[in-house]
Amino acid sequence: MNISYFCNSIFLIINCSLLTNYMAIPTSRVNVPANIFIDTEKCTGCGLCIDVCKDFGLEIVNHKVVKSNKSIFGCVGCGHCMMVCPTGVIAIEGRTLSPVQLFDLPDKSTVPSYESLLSMLQRRRSIREFKDKPVEKEKIDQILEAAQTAPMGLPPSDVHVLVLENKTQVRTFAVEFSKYLTTIRWMASNWFMTLMRPFWGKPTDEMMREFIKPVFDIYVDSMEKGDNWINYDAPLAMYFYGSPYTDPADPIIAATYAMLAGESLGLGTCMLGAVHPFIQNGKKARIFREKWGIKYPSREGLFVIFGYADVHYNKGVKWTFADIHRVS
Ligand SMILES: Cc1cc2nc3c(=O)[nH]c(=O)nc-3n(C[C@H](O)[C@H](O)[C@H](O)COP(=O)(O)O)c2cc1C
Repeated sequence: MNISYFCNSIFLIINCSLLTNYMAIPTSRVNVPANIFIDTEKCTGCGLCIDVCKDFGLEIVNHKVVKSNKSIFGCVGCGHCMMVCPTGVIAIEGRTLSPVQLFDLPDKSTVPSYESLLSMLQRRRSIREFKDKPVEKEKIDQILEAAQTAPMGLPPSDVHVLVLENKTQVRTFAVEFSKYLTTIRWMASNWFMTLMRPFWGKPTDEMMREFIKPVFDIYVDSMEKGDNWINYDAPLAMYFYGSPYTDPADPIIAATYAMLAGESLGLGTCMLGAVHPFIQNGKKARIFREKWGIKYPSREGLFVIFGYADVHYNKGVKWTFADIHRVS
């Protein structure tokens, strides 16, 4: 836990104790519960909403659904009760949710089969060579639309996205990131790694020497020669990140959805993990983030680059997990 997370946690605890009656699970967007409105007259008392609400916020009284006083968190605004209700008698307002966001489900026949999904997954490769062709605005919108369907730890989504919409923006980001790296290059110097080894241990020492230092070298030295190994001059890049409140999995899941949406639109994609950790801590990192409109430091974040592939692979390869332990 670094100092900013520690301070945030203390701030949160103080805030919670002062405002117990008003607060709910906080995100960077909202910290109050949503409101539940029920049209009791029309309720058939089927109880489906009670089954799906895991907050114990609803109960049946006299064959009608009513708000209970057993709520654990206050309504988090997941919307499940609204979405499951066959007669539309529940409205949730707040935590960015409202009934106007409801839509009719796409027909089941339009859902890709396992085979077609697997084909797309098997054909995917991390693409780092792109045609000099921009990604159309419509496709950028589609990627963002699809990525926002991702499951989010605690609603409303606390994922933020920086979109670099063309090759010039993507390259400028890389050039400035490389310049920024030169100012913190001492972190990958032999003297600093030797000094830190007793504190951060063998695995980190090995990672620093065998991965982080070469990354520094290649990012900075290549850029000085005009070669962009940071984001490969892709025509589109999106950076998914959280806030100090965000579950670290959320930006990664959103990035994965964006990547798959890009694949389905015929784009080549590649995840880039090496920028995020370098822009979290310290004043220089904050200045860099502010310059690019990155609102928060966060525990996890991930870039995805997109573009029309300028490489064709003839074969796939079967990757395996480190371990699959099936308890029988
Ligand atoms: C979290 C994550 C971070 C990654 N970061 C980078 C990166 O910084 N630069 C890069 O060239 N590739 C990056 N990759 C791509 C991997 O190198 C790639 O997925 C791996 O080599 C397997 O190749 P494949 O994606 O074609 O199956 C990253 C992948 C993931 C999942």
